[in-house]
Amino acid sequence: MRQFSILAVIAAATVSACGPNEAAKDAAPAPPPPTDAEKAAILATLPAPYNTGDLINGQRKFALCRSCHTITPNGPNLTGPNLYGVFGRKAGGLEGYTYSEALKKAGFVWEGSHLDAWLADPRGYMPGTKMTFLGIKDAKDRQDLIAYLKVETGFKPATQPAAAAAPAPAPAQ
Ligand code: HEC
Repeated sequence: MRQFSILAVIAAATVSACGPNEAAKDAAPAPPPPTDAEKAAILATLPAPYNTGDLINGQRKFALCRSCHTITPNGPNLTGPNLYGVFGRKAGGLEGYTYSEALKKAGFVWEGSHLDAWLADPRGYMPGTKMTFLGIKDAKDRQDLIAYLKVETGFKPATQPAAAAAPAPAPAQ
């Protein structure tokens, strides 16, 4: 009897060890979330004024967005689209999410400056979007939120068009 129950435990352990491994093969591998030290390092590389953003305040302000948006890699779309990788992505460009015509036709790539202007006055900046959000009046709160979002959504300054387009320094004569 005792031997039987040990076998049963081993069998159960083997089955549960197989389950998650099988599932992991199919899912797209998500990058591990950055540590706090890595987040501080990413923050320091952001273009000004975001490099001096307060991530704690930014996270607090994100509470205004989280009922409609996830920001994790491969996170689900809620009322609004998943925002992982949004900076550097075409506005209205996440496949599988049904955007309003207004956002599809916005014709820009998301940068901090666009989001800042939109969050300051959502209806005035882009009339006709289906994001029902009143806006964030305080400029510093918007700055901190954008810094937080850039750090959390996998923004890579080095791959941004603006950085890539910077002219190479002239060789010293
Ligand atoms: C009530 C729900 C709701 C809230 C709250 C909300 N959003 Fe949205 N958001 C949406 C919807 C819906 C869309 C899609 C709009 C469209 O297609 O017109 C959207 C779109 C966006 C986009 C464009 C994404 C893309 O792929 O082009 C960004 C960026 C964004 N929201 C950021 C935010 C931020 C930051 C906050 C918090 C300050 C926020 N949203 C709060 C519903 C919301």
